[in-house]
Amino acid sequence: MIGKSKACLIAIGAAVTLTFLLGPYGCAPEKPQRVKTVTIGDNEIDPEIWGKAYPEEYELWKMTEKPEPAGKSKYKRGFDADHITYDKLSEYPYMALLFNGWGFGVEYNEPKGHANMLRDQLEVDASRIKAGGVCLSCKTPYAAGLQKEMGKDYYSLDYKDVMAKIPEKNRQLGVACIDCHDNKDMTLKISRGFTLGAAMKDMGVDQSKLTRQEMRSAVCAQCHVTYNIPKDKDMKSVGLFFPWQNGKWGDISIEGIIQKIQSDDANREWKQTVTGFKLGFIRHPEFELFSKKSVHWKAGAACADCHMPYTKSGVFKVSDHRVMSPLKNDMKACMQCHTETAEWLKQQVIEIQDRTVSIQIRSGYATATTAKLFEAVHKAKAEGKTIDEELYKKAKQYYEQAFYRSLFIGAENSIGFHNPTEAMRVLGDATAFATKAEAYLRQILTKAGVDVPLRVDLEMAKYLEGRGTKKLPDDKSVEFKDPSGVQDMF
Ligand code: HEC
Ligand code: HEC
Ligand code: HEC
Ligand code: HEC
Repeated sequence: MIGKSKACLIAIGAAVTLTFLLGPYGCAPEKPQRVKTVTIGDNEIDPEIWGKAYPEEYELWKMTEKPEPAGKSKYKRGFDADHITYDKLSEYPYMALLFNGWGFGVEYNEPKGHANMLRDQLEVDASRIKAGGVCLSCKTPYAAGLQKEMGKDYYSLDYKDVMAKIPEKNRQLGVACIDCHDNKDMTLKISRGFTLGAAMKDMGVDQSKLTRQEMRSAVCAQCHVTYNIPKDKDMKSVGLFFPWQNGKWGDISIEGIIQKIQSDDANREWKQTVTGFKLGFIRHPEFELFSKKSVHWKAGAACADCHMPYTKSGVFKVSDHRVMSPLKNDMKACMQCHTETAEWLKQQVIEIQDRTVSIQIRSGYATATTAKLFEAVHKAKAEGKTIDEELYKKAKQYYEQAFYRSLFIGAENSIGFHNPTEAMRVLGDATAFATKAEAYLRQILTKAGVDVPLRVDLEMAKYLEGRGTKKLPDDKSVEFKDPSGVQDMF
């Protein structure tokens, strides 16, 4: 089904040494070498200066602030031309129940283009940046420098106090050239040693040995990964790390991540309202899911292949620095390797996403149901009823396993496409754990003499009310339904 892929993959291999000499191969087209007329100084952060040397990439990079082409992506509408910020709590109401208790239950938006990242942080509900200066780590090119200069304070000081240390002109600047490039020769470079660098070291990865193709994913893995912000006893942030210590390059599993989070109570960053449990959290694990032996990872593809395809800019062929969903770019990225039509390729993506969403919604509601049963158990206990503590312990263990798994795929931004089989495996296990926990909880309640209705009332309206001010107007209601219809049976 992919006639050109062999030639293409050969081209990727060859590209390591022959960057500018390729031509006849499908997916790594000719890139005429340009004469550099401007030298970029060391530590120069301002993209405008870099843009004087590389105007094509600069102009494309700037485009990420624009609304995206509307109507092309089914699930990732982000920030369309209609200027609506789509939010996950409206799309997946079970998340409003599960995340109630902190910022993510108030406002949790779909991603937008890169240029918006800091601006969005300034506009988001204040509860989302309560963790402090640490929130800037994936947003400003100044993060690494600030962390070095401020040490512990960088994590714990108020967001606005750390922000004040960024030169005024660049306080809204998101990911910049210097985050991904070496100023001397424009090779790819990891600028965040204190996060990705440390996590790689924990896994025994020698950064200097990564291939160019691996670097085309690694630069993205500076931010498109899950992380944890450990807390001290007063719930002040004391650090930042990627929970990869039980993993290997190309094999970071959800099981290993959960184990790491549970290994230290400091990683329990928030308290869930419905259960009263202190829990950890998982954010946008694009790199983890993709690199966990997905078909494309094994084929040697990188994030940049699909999100920064080669494009024409004047007489040059450049990497598209308007980083975006391939669907919004008419599948051009895919067609560098695949010979099928854009329409067919898009259909493959949507079919994978439909299947993923179906199971994601099911596992999400199964987990939410379990959470509500914990609430009922806690109420019974408060009323003096006897609770089987052994069963309770088991139910809680299984609930956490379900919660983190459902969270993992719900937070991952491709709706399963980055690794369809792994997404299904994780969601299947989430549902199994939730179902088992539900059975234990029903048993506890029955033993305590509490009557549990067949269908547990999730009181969704209550949790959806807790959302922030950006709730969509009714006529733009965008809740996704389980396309299989199976959800309605529960
Ligand atoms: C410095 C951190 C950082 C780096 C490095 C980074 N991203 Fe992002 N990316 C973000 C953030 C934050 C957002 C969401 C911005 C928002 O919603 O305001 C985002 C959004 C996106 C989006 C959604 C864009 C849209 O139009 O909705 C894609 C796709 C994406 N990134 C891919 C990549 C790829 C591929 C790489 C590597 C080549 C990469 N990113 C590197 C932080 C980063
Ligand atoms: C999120 C990471 C990221 C950011 C930010 C970024 N680039 Fe790149 N850039 C890449 C990747 C990935 C490539 C492909 C490199 C490769 O294949 O070796 C690339 C390639 C390039 C190249 C080589 C020619 C080409 O287009 O393939 C130039 C020049 C360049 N970028 C300039 C810039 C400039 C100027 C900026 C800032 C305005 C910038 N880049 C911002 C990731 C980034
Ligand atoms: C084989 C192609 C492919 C590769 C490789 C790939 N992606 Fe994606 N990515 C997609 C597709 C397809 C989507 C779904 C887009 C949609 O539904 O509009 C997506 C979605 C995303 C999104 C959400 C986009 C949005 O508009 O909200 C982000 C962020 C993202 N990918 C980042 C990454 C990162 C980081 C990597 C590497 C770790 C990566 N991708 C590797 C194809 C790819
Ligand atoms: C760098 C080259 C490359 C790019 C870019 C690429 N693919 Fe692939 N794709 C491959 C290879 C290689 C395979 C594996 C073929 C095989 O093993 O049969 C593959 C497999 C697939 C499969 C089958 C997956 C499976 O689980 O069997 C689908 C569907 C697919 N690609 C869709 C896409 C879409 C959609 C895009 C763009 C968003 C894309 N690909 C981008 C190279 C690529």
